[in-house]
Amino acid sequence: MKTAIIIGFGGMGIRHFKALSKLNIKVKAICDKNLEKIEKDKSLKKIIKTNNYKKILNIKADIVCIASNTQSRFAITKNFLRYSKIQRILIEKPLSVTFKDSLELYNLVKKNRNRRIYVNTFRTISKNFENVKKVFTKNKEKITHIFINSPSAGLGNMGSIFFDLGNYFIEENAVSVTSWIDKTGTVSPRGKIFKDPGGYGIVRYKNEKKLFFDLSEDTSLPYEIILKSRNFECKIDELNNNFSFRKRPNKYRVKPNYYYLYKPEKFNLKIAHKYDVVKMTTFSIKKLFEKKFQSNLQESIKSMELVFAAHASDNKQETIKLPLSKKFHNKKVNFA
Ligand SMILES: NC(=O)c1ccc[n+]([C@@H]2O[C@H](COP(=O)([O-])OP(=O)(O)OC[C@H]3O[C@@H](n4cnc5c(N)ncnc54)[C@H](O)[C@@H]3O)[C@@H](O)[C@H]2O)c1
Repeated sequence: MKTAIIIGFGGMGIRHFKALSKLNIKVKAICDKNLEKIEKDKSLKKIIKTNNYKKILNIKADIVCIASNTQSRFAITKNFLRYSKIQRILIEKPLSVTFKDSLELYNLVKKNRNRRIYVNTFRTISKNFENVKKVFTKNKEKITHIFINSPSAGLGNMGSIFFDLGNYFIEENAVSVTSWIDKTGTVSPRGKIFKDPGGYGIVRYKNEKKLFFDLSEDTSLPYEIILKSRNFECKIDELNNNFSFRKRPNKYRVKPNYYYLYKPEKFNLKIAHKYDVVKMTTFSIKKLFEKKFQSNLQESIKSMELVFAAHASDNKQETIKLPLSKKFHNKKVNFA
């Protein structure tokens, strides 16, 4: 039987536990800063419990899941890469509280080529999102515009996911970010020490492709992602399992773009699975056990570059060109 250890047993650590159980992977040890919480939990019998992850760096296991908060996660991940023999590391998003840390992690992983590291962003390996992409590709349609219409969800917490998806669908390098950070100062549900404001702006990509994002803190409807090409549009209401398409009927496609007085054809994507974080976390875990493994760390770094560029843009009140200049690499945002 495969074995695992989990660091950080809050909302997400518990989901990692459930995902591992679904895959029949036995959890050997759990670490949480709040020892009382895990010791009280009767479902965690015969599992080593500690509040100091350094004490379990020497445990043998097939995978370690690191789901503490962002800043501690970085230090913990580094220590597992350096001192533990565990080959597979699943880490939560967002990647880090500074862009410098993201790059440091990347370099450390490069040095430890025998290690597998995966960031639990899971949409780009979900059949639902893969199938959306296939509809565009099969119809020779290039996604050129993306609209993110999100509630107050934090540029680090959800922005990192949205930018990852944006890069996945647009398939070009981002060239600049212009953004405004929300100044409402909403307190993080995970604690006052964490800071993760929303904001709005534009990411411009090569070949005039663009992503418009709005995570302003005065709205609260479930997020929607709209993908647009010349003749197709897909609206994704992920949380409610709805992936709906509109398309221009074939007979109108010879007409110029300003001819839009017609009724679009509509269809829904047959979903491969419902929105379920535990289930989708199993996709990431399975990825780490695949024969031919490909990490998503580089993709994650690209999305973090956009997150930090959005903060830099607001800070400097200007458009930030990419790659992100070194002078912004140390800017810290204490994501939860
Ligand atoms: N992939 C996803 O869909 C998804 C969903 C929710 C949250 N997350 C991410 O997961 C992370 C955790 O989120 P959460 O909702 O579980 O937060 P949380 O605050 O509920 O839980 C974090 C847990 O980590 C523990 N912890 C903190 N520092 C620690 C340390 N040094 N050693 C051991 N334990 C430590 C805390 O005591 C807490 O129990 C966040 O970064 C969040 O963005 C990802």
